Order: sequence, then C-alpha cells, then structure tokens
Amino acid sequence: MLPQWNRKPTFNITRASHVVLTCRDIGASRDFYAGALGLVVTDETKDALYLRGLEEANYCSIALHKDEAPPKALYIGMRVEDGSHFEPLTAYLKRKEISYEFADVAHQGKTLRFRDPAGLPVEFAARMDIVERRMQDYHTFRGGSPQRFDHYQVVTHDVQAATDFWSELGFRLAEYTAPANSDELWGAWLERKGNTHDIVFTNGKGPRLHHFAFTVPDVTTLIHACDVVSSLGYLDVIDRGPGRHGLSNALFVYFRDPDGHRIELFNTHYQVIDPETPPIRWDLSNPRRAQLWGMPASKRWFFEASEFKDCALFDPLLVAEPLTLEKYLEAQG
Ligand SMILES: [Fe+2]
Repeated sequence: MLPQWNRKPTFNITRASHVVLTCRDIGASRDFYAGALGLVVTDETKDALYLRGLEEANYCSIALHKDEAPPKALYIGMRVEDGSHFEPLTAYLKRKEISYEFADVAHQGKTLRFRDPAGLPVEFAARMDIVERRMQDYHTFRGGSPQRFDHYQVVTHDVQAATDFWSELGFRLAEYTAPANSDELWGAWLERKGNTHDIVFTNGKGPRLHHFAFTVPDVTTLIHACDVVSSLGYLDVIDRGPGRHGLSNALFVYFRDPDGHRIELFNTHYQVIDPETPPIRWDLSNPRRAQLWGMPASKRWFFEASEFKDCALFDPLLVAEPLTLEKYLEAQG
C-alpha cells in the first residue's frame, strides 16, 4: 500500500548525512577508503577514523570505530536543520511510543538516537564541526573522487511499516517495487533532499545495512575508481557493476570495504521536487528495475548486508524473491 506523505511535518529532517560503522583495522580502512576510493581523512586516531567526501564541509560522513569483534553497522545518520527541531521531533516520537535518548557525540554535539518501528538504529545530528571543502583541490583527487554522501539502503523485515513511519517524518516516495498485480511494498525509495532517495528500504531479513552511497563527478571517474582499486591489488572488492539502475537511473558500482561493508559510488540521480509527481512503480520481476541493461544482480548482492550491533534480526513479512543472476542464468539454460 502506498504511504501517506506528510509534506509539512513540524520538524525538518534535511538529508541523509553520515554512517557510523565498526572496523577491525583502522589502517586497512584508511588505505581502502582514502588511498583507493579517494575519500578525505578528517582525522585518524588509534581507534577511530573520520572520512568525508571532497565537497563536504561537515566533519565526516563516515565514522569508523575500531572493534575487533565481527564488523557491524552502528547507526545511520540524518541531519535536522538545527537544534530547535529536536523538540517537535521528540514530541512526535513520544506520540508514537518510540523511546529515544540523547548522546553527546564528538564533533557533532547533542545527537538524538532511537530505533524506527522496524528496529533500525538511527541518529539525528543538528550540527557538525566545519572543515575545509576540498572540491577544488583537483591535484589531490584519487580513485573515484567521491564528492558527497547521498543515501542508504536498508534491508528490513517490514517495508510497509518502515515506509509509513519515514513518510510521516516527511520523506516522500519517489519510486517503489511491488510484486505482480499489487502495490504491496517490496522496496521503497524515499527522499528528503530533492533527488530520488535519501533512504531505501528493501524486503528481507532485517534490519541490516545493505549499502551507503557517495556521488562521483562523472562516468569516467567511476570507471577510474575500478581501475585504481584493481591496480592497488583489491581484486575481490568490486561487488557489482558498473551498471545502470532502472530505479533512480543511477550509473553505479559497488565495493566491499575490508570489513565487508558495502559502499556504492554513483553518478546521475534525477530531481524529485514538484509534489504532484507520482512515484514510479517497478514490478519485482522486471530485470530492468535493478539493472537497466538487463543482467540481474547476484544472490550475494541481494542477500548479504551488514548487521547492526545489538539488534535482533527478523524474517521478512512479505514472501517475494527478486530475480537474481543465478535464477536468470538457470532460466536461460
Ligand atoms: Fe544506492
């Protein structure tokens, strides 16, 4: 069922802004994210690494915390416009009987944390320390030259509940996937900032973080990222692509970091601003949905994702499988 979009909530969540993950080896993460993909290191300590895209003036868009336990995602991060928006947002959470807490987080101060109705841990920051934009330091560009954080994809057991909740927070459905002859939600692409999505929910065992994504300047840079990771010896990190999504029209490539977390570099999302524009529906069986050029993604891409620390996993309520590369090749004989 398509959600009711709350166009004008009493608080303003502006965008997907940062992700918080664990990693086992700070040096290995730095070598991959900065040395190969081209992100900027804002700070590195013995137990933390803070990274940002070349355009970004905020302190970080990836925060990695060292933990020798199996790697986990900790939070997906969003921004509210400023601190005055915490009060109406927490009033809303109280009405929904969602418990929350405030944390004092280095370089971003007072931060609101809670779990959405499908158990996804989120944190909302109202500010971050300001650092220098590096977008015109062209002589330092490396790998994919990632410019800015753009979105998340989260695997959830209840896409409908997650979509309804985030739509009430002001997120607008840009595109969605449904099984044949229905509007039952298998996947929902939801946006706040005016392009196709800030957060995506897809059906599966969850909550798990499927990937987070950065924009790159152009197609050539995206291909260059693949060449650079290859020439540096990262032969097993290109997880999928390059290719073009039907959904969102993005040219994409996915990598797995040294801990298995998935990062997408992409180019070209279209604008979703005028409110009367209806969402685009994709049938789950349509191979052009996830790959406009026709070849579906592998089982690994669809079904592997980062678990969140201390979060119970739930089986999906909707039983509907996507078309995988393995199924597609089997059908070809
Ligand atoms: Fe993505």
